[in-house]
Amino acid sequence: MKISVDIKSFLSLGCDILAVGLFQSKGVKNPFFDQIDERLKRRLSRLIKKEDFKADVANTKLIYTEGLLKARSVLIVGLGDKQKFNLETIRKAGAAIQTQAKQIKAGIVVSEIMGTALRDAPDCAQALVEGWLLNQYRFERYVKKTPESVRQWLLCPGQSRLKANIERAVRLAQTLTEGVYLCRDLVNTPASDMNPLALARAARRLKGVRKRVHNLAAIKKMKMGAFLGVARGSTANPPYFIEMHYQPKARAKKRIAIIGKGVTFDSGGYSIKHAKAMETMKDDMAGAAAVIGLMSIVSRLKPRVAVSGYIAATENMVDGRAQRPGDILRALNGKTIEVLNTDAEGRLTMADALAYANKKKPDYIIDIATLTGSCLVALGTQYTGILGNDQELMDKLIACGNETGEKIWQLPLADEYREELKSQIADLKNIATSPYGGTITAALFLENFVGKTKWAHLDIAGPSFSEKNLPYTPAGGTGVMVRTLAQLLSEF
Ligand code: BES
Ligand code: ZN
Ligand code: ZN
Repeated sequence: MKISVDIKSFLSLGCDILAVGLFQSKGVKNPFFDQIDERLKRRLSRLIKKEDFKADVANTKLIYTEGLLKARSVLIVGLGDKQKFNLETIRKAGAAIQTQAKQIKAGIVVSEIMGTALRDAPDCAQALVEGWLLNQYRFERYVKKTPESVRQWLLCPGQSRLKANIERAVRLAQTLTEGVYLCRDLVNTPASDMNPLALARAARRLKGVRKRVHNLAAIKKMKMGAFLGVARGSTANPPYFIEMHYQPKARAKKRIAIIGKGVTFDSGGYSIKHAKAMETMKDDMAGAAAVIGLMSIVSRLKPRVAVSGYIAATENMVDGRAQRPGDILRALNGKTIEVLNTDAEGRLTMADALAYANKKKPDYIIDIATLTGSCLVALGTQYTGILGNDQELMDKLIACGNETGEKIWQLPLADEYREELKSQIADLKNIATSPYGGTITAALFLENFVGKTKWAHLDIAGPSFSEKNLPYTPAGGTGVMVRTLAQLLSEF
């Protein structure tokens, strides 16, 4: 689909759908709506009155124009209460237009850029395009591809002077979506096909970044004992340690390390999961997928910071050589870990990846991991948990999440629970004594491997995978945090 910004009068354009936004609240002037309404002999206003059309967010109504306009149909898209309006409203509107366009097999769609009465047109255009494209995503690796009916989507801004800025915003939305698509594809691919090697290959394919992949022998040489403890469970699919580096053209303002959990399948190991809990465990590399998704577009986003992505990729399986509960491992930073539960494997792989990243002395460390079921209990399926040692960095991430619609909620890195991780015979144990506060104790465990570096930890166990369709996010891997991290990088 070609997306272009057209400053000709939208009334003169022939198309299958002409989309126009409508707020619930009166008093938001929309000249687009009024002009269309007039040409349709007030049919829109009458229809809304008669049928009591509620302009709830993403509620739509399709009206055929029967020759009164060049457009074959007009689509009214609800924008809800103007008091509650934000970019998320526009994303949902974009998704609603896409759904309708697909349903009536539209070839050409024209739409106004909704929300411009309340926010800058380029921001609105970006959100509208994101909403459409994110909603359009299908995972088609194992089924016959269905071609998209829409060939062309024309965005009509009110004024021509913003055209260049809007075009830039559209391109940005397309780039961001591409990163999200890659992330979703990696997560949706079953674990048999998306094993550590496949993940390493996905990283190797990236453009515009320097890559380095370490194999088992190299990982042993590096003494990543915690990571290796987990990897021992999979002789069939050996581990890889993946690095990706982006360097801006000008001197980097800051250096940021982003570490993604890359457990390509989490059976639990000998502390094996029950069948139901294992069903979606191909998703346990969603943190790694987000990092790869981000690194796949970073050279086009051109942030002013240096970005390094790190992934300790492994499966967590059972095997004659697999680690056993009670084993003691020595992490890269020298700390010893008593493994009491092999299902708390994410923190073991992350420990070495964090310690490795920290040795390079970055200004910030951000890690992203499907780390704890407790985070699902605490925050449900749609909120990412955030913990860390630097409030400013966490506040920044939370603010970026508010912009992108990816909700982030902070939990405390509670001093009081530190003793929960004390072992009698090693520096640490990999699970807390108490079954409560699992997201917090997991983060406290990770804290041992970041030194004094400013650090934020994102627990995406909930929002990385959705069992049901969400507004602009089809069921499956969601690609969560790709856009938020991209937003963060752009703000330095
Ligand atoms: N990968 C899981 C966490 C998870 C659970 C992600 C559900 C997505 C959905 C992690 O490795 C794990 O199993 N964590 C255990 C830790 C426990 C043994 C301390 C958990 O959360 O139950
Ligand atoms: Zn686990
Ligand atoms: Zn896991």
